[in-house]
Amino acid sequence: MLQAQPGGPVDRDLRELGALPTTYGEGLIARVEALAPQGVDAVFDAAGQGALPDSITLRGGTTDRIITIADPTAADHGVTFSSSGTPTPEALAELARRATIGELRITVAETYPLTEAAQAQTRSATGHTRGKLILLP
Ligand SMILES: NC(=O)c1ccc[n+]([C@@H]2O[C@H](COP(=O)([O-])OP(=O)(O)OC[C@H]3O[C@@H](n4cnc5c(N)ncnc54)[C@H](OP(=O)(O)O)[C@@H]3O)[C@@H](O)[C@H]2O)c1
Repeated sequence: MLQAQPGGPVDRDLRELGALPTTYGEGLIARVEALAPQGVDAVFDAAGQGALPDSITLRGGTTDRIITIADPTAADHGVTFSSSGTPTPEALAELARRATIGELRITVAETYPLTEAAQAQTRSATGHTRGKLILLP
């Protein structure tokens, strides 16, 4: 979930991909229920900012088909944590190919010289970066 401003570029990108964006925070459950009155089949948490209890509620009390890649408290909630590990050279080559032909769009938020890696880490830790932070050799 992003704080995508209605009608803004992020909102438009998400709708183009077939997603219905909403905002996180207070009232999330009601907003998602309004968007999906038929119920929620699965939850993928990519933010890790405490959304697992709400996710379980939205799944009707079960942890089945909820997965997080970012919430270190997953085990406390009985939710599966998944880590992608290091991508293989073949997988990276395939992603590069898709980027070249426009099937994969990558947003660069900021670039930093390698000597400023610490600043990049500080920026990343805000949890509000919009795109990739690139370190230049
Ligand atoms: N397990 C793995 O294999 C794996 C792989 C890659 C990444 N990760 C983890 O996944 C997490 C996200 O990575 P990222 O690169 O996307 O981070 P990021 O670039 O810092 O983006 C964080 C996103 O989370 C949104 N956000 C912030 N607070 C939120 C909240 N309370 N609820 C919902 N969304 C919220 C932000 O939106 P706003 O700016 O609008 O607030 C922003 O779009 C990190 O913890 C990272 O370590 C795990």
